[in-house]
Amino acid sequence: MNRFIINGSGETTLPQDGWRCNIAPSWLFFFRPKSEVSRRHSCHHPFFFWRYLPPVQVCVRMKFGIIGAGMIGHFHAKAIQAMADGTLHSVFDLRPEAAEKIAAEYGAKAFSNFDDFLADPDLEIVTIGTPSGAHRDPAIAALQAGKHVICEKPLEVTTERIDEMMSAAAAAGKTLAAVLNRRFQPAIVALKEASDSGRFGKITSASAYVKWWRTQEYYDSGAWRGTWALDGGGALMNQGVHTVDQLLHVAGPVVAVTASTALLAHERIEVEDACVAILEFANGARGVLEASTCCWSSTGHPAEVHVCGTQGSVFLADESFRVWDFADTQAHDQEIRETLMVGAARGLGANDPSAINFEGHRRNFQEVVSSIQENRPCLVDATEARKAVAVINAVYRSAREGCTRIILS
Ligand SMILES: NC(=O)c1ccc[n+]([C@@H]2O[C@H](COP(=O)([O-])OP(=O)(O)OC[C@H]3O[C@@H](n4cnc5c(N)ncnc54)[C@H](O)[C@@H]3O)[C@@H](O)[C@H]2O)c1
Repeated sequence: MNRFIINGSGETTLPQDGWRCNIAPSWLFFFRPKSEVSRRHSCHHPFFFWRYLPPVQVCVRMKFGIIGAGMIGHFHAKAIQAMADGTLHSVFDLRPEAAEKIAAEYGAKAFSNFDDFLADPDLEIVTIGTPSGAHRDPAIAALQAGKHVICEKPLEVTTERIDEMMSAAAAAGKTLAAVLNRRFQPAIVALKEASDSGRFGKITSASAYVKWWRTQEYYDSGAWRGTWALDGGGALMNQGVHTVDQLLHVAGPVVAVTASTALLAHERIEVEDACVAILEFANGARGVLEASTCCWSSTGHPAEVHVCGTQGSVFLADESFRVWDFADTQAHDQEIRETLMVGAARGLGANDPSAINFEGHRRNFQEVVSSIQENRPCLVDATEARKAVAVINAVYRSAREGCTRIILS
Protein backbone atom coordinates (compact mmCIF):
# COMPACT_ATOMS: atom_id res chain seq x y z
CA MET A 1 0.00 0.00 0.00
CA ASN A 2 1.32 3.42 -0.92
CA ARG A 3 1.06 6.29 1.50
CA PHE A 4 1.06 10.08 1.05
CA ILE A 5 1.78 12.44 3.86
CA ILE A 6 -0.24 15.62 3.70
CA ASN A 7 0.49 18.50 6.00
CA GLY A 8 -2.03 21.07 7.18
CA SER A 9 -1.94 23.09 3.97
CA GLY A 10 -2.39 20.03 1.80
CA GLU A 11 1.19 19.81 0.54
CA THR A 12 2.57 16.36 0.01
CA THR A 13 5.93 15.48 1.44
CA LEU A 14 8.24 12.52 1.26
CA PRO A 15 7.54 9.90 3.90
CA GLN A 16 10.07 8.68 6.43
CA ASP A 17 10.75 5.42 8.22
CA GLY A 18 11.08 3.58 4.91
CA TRP A 19 7.54 4.06 3.55
CA ARG A 20 7.00 3.62 -0.19
CA CYS A 21 5.32 6.65 -1.70
CA ASN A 22 3.74 8.08 -4.86
CA ILE A 23 3.70 11.89 -4.99
CA ALA A 24 0.47 13.54 -6.19
CA PRO A 25 -0.40 17.27 -6.45
CA SER A 26 -2.03 18.66 -3.34
CA TRP A 27 -5.28 19.76 -5.08
CA LEU A 28 -6.13 16.10 -5.57
CA PHE A 29 -6.76 15.95 -1.85
CA PHE A 30 -9.15 18.88 -1.70
CA PHE A 31 -11.95 16.58 -0.61
CA ARG A 32 -9.86 14.73 1.92
CA PRO A 33 -11.70 13.31 4.94
CA LYS A 34 -11.68 15.45 8.07
CA SER A 35 -12.23 12.97 10.88
CA GLU A 36 -9.86 13.40 13.80
CA VAL A 37 -8.28 10.00 14.00
CA SER A 38 -9.09 8.22 10.76
CA ARG A 39 -6.38 9.52 8.45
CA ARG A 40 -6.06 6.63 6.05
CA HIS A 41 -8.49 6.41 3.17
CA SER A 42 -8.39 4.94 -0.30
CA CYS A 43 -9.26 7.34 -3.15
CA HIS A 44 -11.62 5.81 -5.73
CA HIS A 45 -13.29 8.70 -7.56
CA PRO A 46 -13.92 7.63 -11.18
CA PHE A 47 -12.45 10.84 -12.66
CA PHE A 48 -9.17 10.35 -10.94
CA PHE A 49 -6.62 8.57 -13.03
CA TRP A 50 -5.09 6.83 -10.05
CA ARG A 51 -8.34 4.89 -9.63
CA TYR A 52 -6.58 2.41 -11.87
CA LEU A 53 -3.45 2.37 -9.72
CA PRO A 54 -3.07 0.33 -6.52
CA PRO A 55 -4.96 1.75 -3.47
CA VAL A 56 -3.38 4.86 -1.99
CA GLN A 57 -3.15 5.44 1.75
CA VAL A 58 -3.57 9.08 2.79
CA CYS A 59 -2.00 10.31 6.01
CA VAL A 60 -2.73 13.81 7.33
CA ARG A 61 -0.08 15.08 9.68
CA MET A 62 -1.32 15.77 13.19
CA LYS A 63 -1.14 19.45 14.11
CA PHE A 64 1.11 20.07 17.11
CA GLY A 65 1.33 23.07 19.39
CA ILE A 66 4.20 23.72 21.81
CA ILE A 67 3.58 25.17 25.28
CA GLY A 68 6.86 26.50 26.66
CA ALA A 69 9.38 27.71 24.10
CA GLY A 70 12.54 27.50 26.21
CA MET A 71 15.53 25.20 25.85
CA ILE A 72 13.54 21.96 25.45
CA GLY A 73 10.84 23.71 23.37
CA HIS A 74 13.42 24.08 20.58
CA PHE A 75 14.07 20.34 20.69
CA HIS A 76 10.32 19.72 20.51
CA ALA A 77 10.11 21.86 17.37
CA LYS A 78 12.97 19.96 15.70
CA ALA A 79 11.49 16.59 16.67
CA ILE A 80 7.99 17.47 15.44
CA GLN A 81 9.29 18.69 12.09
CA ALA A 82 11.26 15.46 11.67
CA MET A 83 8.15 13.32 12.30
CA ALA A 84 6.29 11.39 9.65
CA ASP A 85 2.88 12.08 11.22
CA GLY A 86 3.26 15.53 12.77
CA THR A 87 3.63 19.16 11.83
CA LEU A 88 4.31 22.19 14.02
CA HIS A 89 1.18 24.34 13.93
CA SER A 90 1.52 26.80 16.82
CA VAL A 91 3.60 27.88 19.81
CA PHE A 92 2.69 29.52 23.13
CA ASP A 93 4.98 30.89 25.82
CA LEU A 94 4.45 33.40 28.61
CA ARG A 95 7.32 35.27 26.93
CA PRO A 96 5.89 36.24 23.52
CA GLU A 97 9.35 36.70 21.99
CA ALA A 98 10.26 33.09 22.82
CA ALA A 99 7.13 31.78 21.08
CA GLU A 100 7.72 34.06 18.09
CA LYS A 101 11.30 32.86 17.67
CA ILE A 102 10.33 29.18 17.28
CA ALA A 103 7.21 30.02 15.25
CA ALA A 104 9.23 32.11 12.77
CA GLU A 105 11.87 29.42 12.42
CA TYR A 106 9.34 26.66 11.65
CA GLY A 107 6.55 28.55 9.88
CA ALA A 108 4.11 28.10 12.77
CA LYS A 109 1.68 30.51 14.50
CA ALA A 110 2.85 32.28 17.67
CA PHE A 111 0.38 32.99 20.48
CA SER A 112 0.81 35.24 23.50
CA ASN A 113 -2.66 34.47 24.88
CA PHE A 114 -3.16 30.94 26.22
CA ASP A 115 -6.95 30.91 25.72
CA ASP A 116 -6.58 31.92 22.06
CA PHE A 117 -3.90 29.25 21.58
CA LEU A 118 -6.21 26.55 22.96
CA ALA A 119 -9.32 27.86 21.17
CA ASP A 120 -7.73 27.17 17.77
CA PRO A 121 -9.87 24.31 16.38
CA ASP A 122 -7.06 23.11 14.09
CA LEU A 123 -4.75 22.41 17.01
CA GLU A 124 -4.93 18.70 17.88
CA ILE A 125 -2.06 17.87 20.24
CA VAL A 126 0.25 19.88 22.48
CA THR A 127 3.71 19.23 23.88
CA ILE A 128 4.53 20.84 27.23
CA GLY A 129 8.04 22.15 27.99
CA THR A 130 7.31 24.54 30.84
CA PRO A 131 9.16 24.20 34.19
CA SER A 132 8.40 20.84 35.81
CA GLY A 133 6.08 22.18 38.54
CA ALA A 134 4.19 24.16 35.89
CA HIS A 135 3.14 21.12 33.84
CA ARG A 136 -0.17 20.40 35.58
CA ASP A 137 -2.13 23.57 34.86
CA PRO A 138 -1.44 23.89 31.10
CA ALA A 139 -1.91 20.13 30.70
CA ILE A 140 -5.32 20.16 32.37
CA ALA A 141 -6.40 23.24 30.40
CA ALA A 142 -5.31 21.64 27.12
CA LEU A 143 -7.10 18.37 27.94
CA GLN A 144 -10.26 20.25 28.84
CA ALA A 145 -10.00 22.10 25.52
CA GLY A 146 -10.05 18.73 23.75
CA LYS A 147 -6.35 18.46 22.89
CA HIS A 148 -4.09 15.45 23.39
CA VAL A 149 -1.07 16.17 25.61
CA ILE A 150 2.57 15.04 25.61
CA CYS A 151 4.32 16.43 28.66
CA GLU A 152 8.02 16.71 29.47
CA LYS A 153 9.73 14.77 32.23
CA PRO A 154 9.08 14.67 35.11
CA LEU A 155 5.37 14.50 34.26
CA GLU A 156 4.87 16.66 37.36
CA VAL A 157 6.72 17.07 40.63
CA THR A 158 4.36 15.02 42.87
CA THR A 159 2.17 12.00 42.30
CA GLU A 160 -0.82 13.99 43.62
CA ARG A 161 -0.44 16.55 40.82
CA ILE A 162 0.01 13.75 38.27
CA ASP A 163 -3.21 12.13 39.52
CA GLU A 164 -5.09 15.38 38.88
CA MET A 165 -3.74 15.41 35.32
CA MET A 166 -4.73 11.77 34.81
CA SER A 167 -8.26 12.47 36.06
CA ALA A 168 -8.55 15.37 33.59
CA ALA A 169 -7.38 13.12 30.74
CA ALA A 170 -9.89 10.43 31.67
CA ALA A 171 -12.73 12.98 31.88
CA ALA A 172 -11.81 14.50 28.50
CA GLY A 173 -11.22 11.14 26.81
CA LYS A 174 -7.88 12.41 25.51
CA THR A 175 -4.35 11.01 25.66
CA LEU A 176 -2.00 12.18 28.39
CA ALA A 177 1.47 10.97 27.47
CA ALA A 178 4.94 11.73 28.78
CA VAL A 179 8.34 12.43 27.30
CA LEU A 180 10.38 9.37 28.25
CA ASN A 181 12.76 9.89 25.35
CA ARG A 182 15.54 7.68 26.66
CA ARG A 183 13.24 4.64 26.49
CA PHE A 184 13.49 4.81 22.70
CA GLN A 185 17.24 4.37 22.48
CA PRO A 186 18.15 1.03 20.81
CA ALA A 187 20.26 -0.08 23.78
CA ILE A 188 17.47 0.30 26.35
CA VAL A 189 15.08 -1.49 23.97
CA ALA A 190 17.56 -4.41 23.79
CA LEU A 191 17.99 -4.41 27.58
CA LYS A 192 14.23 -4.39 28.14
CA GLU A 193 13.82 -7.34 25.76
CA ALA A 194 16.52 -9.28 27.60
CA SER A 195 14.82 -8.58 30.93
CA ASP A 196 11.30 -9.41 29.70
CA SER A 197 12.46 -12.68 28.17
CA GLY A 198 14.00 -13.79 31.49
CA ARG A 199 17.63 -13.81 30.34
CA PHE A 200 18.87 -12.48 33.69
CA GLY A 201 17.40 -15.46 35.56
CA LYS A 202 16.47 -14.05 38.96
CA ILE A 203 17.36 -10.36 39.02
CA THR A 204 19.46 -9.78 42.14
CA SER A 205 20.96 -6.31 41.67
CA ALA A 206 19.60 -3.23 39.85
CA SER A 207 21.34 0.12 40.26
CA ALA A 208 21.57 3.53 38.59
CA TYR A 209 24.36 6.11 38.68
CA VAL A 210 24.04 9.69 37.42
CA LYS A 211 27.29 11.43 38.41
CA TRP A 212 26.80 14.64 36.50
CA TRP A 213 27.93 18.25 36.73
CA ARG A 214 25.95 21.47 36.52
CA THR A 215 27.55 24.89 36.88
CA GLN A 216 26.29 27.53 39.27
CA GLU A 217 25.39 29.54 36.14
CA TYR A 218 23.02 26.75 35.12
CA TYR A 219 21.09 27.08 38.38
CA ASP A 220 21.19 30.87 38.16
CA SER A 221 19.88 30.82 34.56
CA GLY A 222 16.22 30.45 35.55
CA ALA A 223 14.42 31.44 38.74
CA TRP A 224 12.59 28.09 38.72
CA ARG A 225 15.73 25.97 38.72
CA GLY A 226 16.63 24.40 42.04
CA THR A 227 13.28 25.22 43.69
CA TRP A 228 10.98 22.66 45.29
CA ALA A 229 7.86 24.21 43.79
CA LEU A 230 8.94 24.32 40.15
CA ASP A 231 11.90 21.90 39.83
CA GLY A 232 10.41 19.45 42.33
CA GLY A 233 13.87 18.51 43.56
CA GLY A 234 17.44 18.69 42.37
CA ALA A 235 19.87 16.22 40.87
CA LEU A 236 17.47 13.31 41.26
CA MET A 237 14.18 14.86 40.10
CA ASN A 238 15.58 16.95 37.27
CA GLN A 239 18.65 15.14 35.97
CA GLY A 240 18.19 11.62 37.41
CA VAL A 241 14.56 11.01 36.50
CA HIS A 242 15.38 9.55 33.06
CA THR A 243 17.71 6.97 34.57
CA VAL A 244 15.29 6.09 37.38
CA ASP A 245 12.66 5.53 34.68
CA GLN A 246 15.02 3.27 32.71
CA LEU A 247 15.88 1.29 35.86
CA LEU A 248 12.21 0.69 36.75
CA HIS A 249 11.43 -0.09 33.09
CA VAL A 250 13.89 -3.01 33.04
CA ALA A 251 14.02 -4.16 36.68
CA GLY A 252 10.40 -3.65 37.74
CA PRO A 253 8.74 -1.81 40.62
CA VAL A 254 10.53 -0.57 43.74
CA VAL A 255 8.74 -1.32 47.02
CA ALA A 256 10.96 0.47 49.56
CA VAL A 257 13.68 3.15 49.67
CA THR A 258 16.13 4.48 52.24
CA ALA A 259 17.91 7.69 51.23
CA SER A 260 20.21 10.55 52.08
CA THR A 261 20.60 13.86 50.20
CA ALA A 262 22.87 16.90 50.51
CA LEU A 263 23.68 20.24 48.92
CA LEU A 264 27.46 20.17 48.49
CA ALA A 265 28.71 22.35 45.65
CA HIS A 266 26.07 24.94 44.70
CA GLU A 267 24.54 28.02 46.26
CA ARG A 268 21.16 29.72 46.29
CA ILE A 269 19.16 26.55 45.55
CA GLU A 270 16.66 24.83 47.84
CA VAL A 271 17.25 21.29 46.60
CA GLU A 272 19.96 18.60 46.65
CA ASP A 273 22.92 18.33 44.31
CA ALA A 274 23.84 14.91 45.74
CA CYS A 275 21.58 11.96 46.50
CA VAL A 276 22.14 8.31 47.41
CA ALA A 277 19.46 5.71 48.06
CA ILE A 278 19.08 2.01 48.76
CA LEU A 279 16.36 0.44 46.61
CA GLU A 280 14.35 -2.72 47.34
CA PHE A 281 12.56 -4.14 44.32
CA ALA A 282 9.32 -6.12 44.24
CA ASN A 283 11.22 -9.08 42.75
CA GLY A 284 13.58 -9.08 45.75
CA ALA A 285 16.54 -7.43 44.02
CA ARG A 286 18.50 -4.75 45.84
CA GLY A 287 20.11 -1.73 44.25
CA VAL A 288 21.64 1.65 44.82
CA LEU A 289 20.71 4.94 43.25
CA GLU A 290 23.14 7.84 42.97
CA ALA A 291 22.27 11.16 41.39
CA SER A 292 24.38 14.27 41.53
CA THR A 293 25.16 17.51 39.75
CA CYS A 294 28.35 18.07 41.72
CA CYS A 295 30.65 15.50 40.07
CA TRP A 296 32.89 17.48 37.74
CA SER A 297 34.67 15.68 34.90
CA SER A 298 36.18 17.01 31.68
CA THR A 299 33.99 14.92 29.38
CA GLY A 300 30.96 14.13 31.56
CA HIS A 301 30.31 10.68 33.02
CA PRO A 302 27.63 8.65 31.26
CA ALA A 303 24.45 7.83 33.18
CA GLU A 304 24.67 4.14 34.01
CA VAL A 305 22.13 1.39 34.68
CA HIS A 306 23.50 -1.91 36.03
CA VAL A 307 21.29 -5.00 36.06
CA CYS A 308 22.63 -8.35 37.27
CA GLY A 309 20.96 -11.68 37.90
CA THR A 310 21.69 -15.35 38.38
CA GLN A 311 22.11 -15.77 34.60
CA GLY A 312 23.45 -12.48 33.28
CA SER A 313 24.89 -9.00 33.75
CA VAL A 314 24.41 -5.81 31.73
CA PHE A 315 25.93 -2.40 32.42
CA LEU A 316 24.36 0.32 30.28
CA ALA A 317 26.30 3.58 29.91
CA ASP A 318 24.11 6.21 28.22
CA GLU A 319 23.29 4.73 24.81
CA SER A 320 25.74 1.83 24.81
CA PHE A 321 26.80 -1.16 26.89
CA ARG A 322 29.93 -1.54 28.99
CA VAL A 323 28.93 -5.14 29.79
CA TRP A 324 26.53 -7.45 27.91
CA ASP A 325 27.05 -10.93 29.30
CA PHE A 326 24.56 -13.82 29.53
CA ALA A 327 24.95 -17.48 30.44
CA ASP A 328 22.65 -18.45 27.55
CA THR A 329 24.53 -16.99 24.59
CA GLN A 330 22.18 -16.09 21.73
CA ALA A 331 22.80 -15.36 18.06
CA HIS A 332 22.08 -11.62 18.28
CA ASP A 333 24.51 -11.10 21.20
CA GLN A 334 27.35 -10.78 18.72
CA GLU A 335 25.44 -8.10 16.77
CA ILE A 336 24.79 -6.22 20.03
CA ARG A 337 28.48 -6.35 20.92
CA GLU A 338 29.39 -5.03 17.46
CA THR A 339 26.83 -2.19 17.33
CA LEU A 340 25.90 -1.18 20.86
CA MET A 341 29.04 -1.48 22.97
CA VAL A 342 30.62 1.64 24.51
CA GLY A 343 32.34 3.94 22.06
CA ALA A 344 29.48 5.74 20.35
CA ALA A 345 27.87 8.32 22.64
CA ARG A 346 29.29 9.17 26.05
CA GLY A 347 28.14 11.57 28.72
CA LEU A 348 24.89 12.47 26.93
CA GLY A 349 23.81 15.69 28.67
CA ALA A 350 26.20 14.94 31.56
CA ASN A 351 27.99 18.29 31.62
CA ASP A 352 25.80 20.29 29.24
CA PRO A 353 21.98 20.09 29.46
CA SER A 354 21.58 20.94 25.77
CA ALA A 355 23.97 18.17 24.63
CA ILE A 356 21.11 15.81 23.79
CA ASN A 357 19.75 14.88 20.38
CA PHE A 358 16.10 15.07 19.37
CA GLU A 359 15.78 11.57 17.92
CA GLY A 360 14.41 10.16 21.19
CA HIS A 361 11.81 12.93 21.26
CA ARG A 362 10.87 12.26 17.62
CA ARG A 363 10.32 8.56 18.31
CA ASN A 364 8.47 9.37 21.54
CA PHE A 365 6.11 11.80 19.75
CA GLN A 366 5.65 9.35 16.86
CA GLU A 367 4.68 6.57 19.29
CA VAL A 368 2.03 8.82 20.88
CA VAL A 369 0.54 9.82 17.51
CA SER A 370 0.53 6.18 16.34
CA SER A 371 -1.22 5.08 19.52
CA ILE A 372 -3.91 7.74 18.98
CA GLN A 373 -4.36 6.79 15.31
CA GLU A 374 -4.48 3.09 16.15
CA ASN A 375 -6.72 3.65 19.18
CA ARG A 376 -4.44 1.68 21.50
CA PRO A 377 -2.70 2.43 24.81
CA CYS A 378 0.47 4.47 24.49
CA LEU A 379 3.81 2.98 25.60
CA VAL A 380 4.73 6.21 27.41
CA ASP A 381 1.44 7.04 29.08
CA ALA A 382 0.99 8.86 32.38
CA THR A 383 0.83 5.61 34.36
CA GLU A 384 4.34 4.75 33.16
CA ALA A 385 5.70 8.25 33.83
CA ARG A 386 4.18 8.33 37.33
CA LYS A 387 6.32 5.38 38.52
CA ALA A 388 9.64 7.27 38.58
CA VAL A 389 8.08 10.29 40.30
CA ALA A 390 6.61 8.03 43.00
CA VAL A 391 10.07 6.57 43.75
CA ILE A 392 11.72 10.01 43.71
CA ASN A 393 9.06 11.47 46.05
CA ALA A 394 9.70 8.53 48.42
CA VAL A 395 13.49 9.10 48.26
CA TYR A 396 13.02 12.76 49.26
CA ARG A 397 10.68 11.79 52.07
CA SER A 398 13.19 9.27 53.40
CA ALA A 399 15.99 11.86 53.30
CA ARG A 400 13.79 14.48 55.00
CA GLU A 401 12.87 12.02 57.74
CA GLY A 402 16.52 11.19 58.53
CA CYS A 403 17.08 8.15 56.29
CA THR A 404 13.95 6.30 57.36
CA ARG A 405 12.83 3.35 55.26
CA ILE A 406 9.82 4.40 53.15
CA ILE A 407 7.50 1.71 51.82
CA LEU A 408 5.85 2.58 48.52
CA SER A 409 2.16 1.83 48.26
N1 LIG B 1 13.47 15.26 28.06
C1 LIG B 1 14.62 15.87 28.22
O1 LIG B 1 15.67 15.36 27.84
C2 LIG B 1 14.63 17.23 28.87
C3 LIG B 1 15.79 18.03 28.80
C4 LIG B 1 15.75 19.31 29.39
C5 LIG B 1 14.60 19.75 30.04
N2 LIG B 1 13.51 18.93 30.11
C6 LIG B 1 12.30 19.37 30.84
O2 LIG B 1 11.70 20.43 30.09
C7 LIG B 1 11.09 21.35 30.99
C8 LIG B 1 11.60 22.76 30.70
O3 LIG B 1 13.00 22.81 30.83
P1 LIG B 1 13.87 23.90 30.02
O4 LIG B 1 15.28 23.60 30.35
O5 LIG B 1 13.44 23.96 28.61
O6 LIG B 1 13.40 25.25 30.77
P2 LIG B 1 13.49 26.76 30.21
O7 LIG B 1 13.49 27.65 31.40
O8 LIG B 1 14.61 26.87 29.22
O9 LIG B 1 12.12 26.92 29.40
C9 LIG B 1 10.86 26.97 30.03
C10 LIG B 1 9.95 27.86 29.19
O10 LIG B 1 8.62 27.79 29.68
C11 LIG B 1 8.07 29.11 29.69
N3 LIG B 1 6.97 29.09 30.66
C12 LIG B 1 7.02 29.09 32.02
N4 LIG B 1 5.79 28.95 32.54
C13 LIG B 1 4.94 28.87 31.48
C14 LIG B 1 3.54 28.74 31.38
N5 LIG B 1 2.74 28.60 32.45
N6 LIG B 1 2.99 28.70 30.14
C15 LIG B 1 3.78 28.83 29.04
N7 LIG B 1 5.11 28.96 29.07
C16 LIG B 1 5.69 28.97 30.29
C17 LIG B 1 9.21 30.01 30.03
O11 LIG B 1 8.96 31.35 29.62
C18 LIG B 1 10.35 29.35 29.23
O12 LIG B 1 10.43 29.85 27.92
C19 LIG B 1 11.38 20.87 32.41
O13 LIG B 1 10.29 20.13 32.89
C20 LIG B 1 12.58 19.95 32.22
O14 LIG B 1 12.67 18.94 33.20
C21 LIG B 1 13.51 17.71 29.53
